[in-house]
Amino acid sequence: AIDPNFDTNREKVGEENGVAVWGPVEPPEKLGIHGTHVAVDYDICLADGACLENCPVDVFTWVDTPDHPVSEVKVEPTNEDQCIDCMLCVDICPVDAIDVDAS
Ligand code: SF4
Ligand code: F3S
Repeated sequence: AIDPNFDTNREKVGEENGVAVWGPVEPPEKLGIHGTHVAVDYDICLADGACLENCPVDVFTWVDTPDHPVSEVKVEPTNEDQCIDCMLCVDICPVDAIDVDAS
C-alpha cells in the first residue's frame, strides 16, 4: 500500500502534468508517487481504473507509462485541487495505491 507519510519520508523530485512527483524515480521501473493532496503510488497502481471511473469530480486522467513492470498506464491526479475528500478512490482501489489527505 501507499505510504501515507510519503511527504515526509520521500523527497519531491519534480512535477509532471501539473502535480508533484515524490521519488525515488528511475524510469521506466520506478515512477514514484504522483500528487500531494490526492497521491497515487505509480509503482503500485495496476491500472484498475475504478478510481477514475467513479471519482465524482473527475480528478484523474490516464497517462502512459511504457515499460513499467506493473502496468503501462497510470492515473494522474491532475485535478487534485477539485477533490471533495469523499474517499471513494481510496476505498475502491484494489491495491491501495491512493492516499487522500483529508485532514
Ligand atoms: Fe475523487 Fe473522492 Fe478520490 Fe477526491 S477522494 S479524488 S473526490 S474519489
Ligand atoms: Fe490505479 Fe487503483 Fe486507480 S490500481 S487506476 S489507483 S483504482
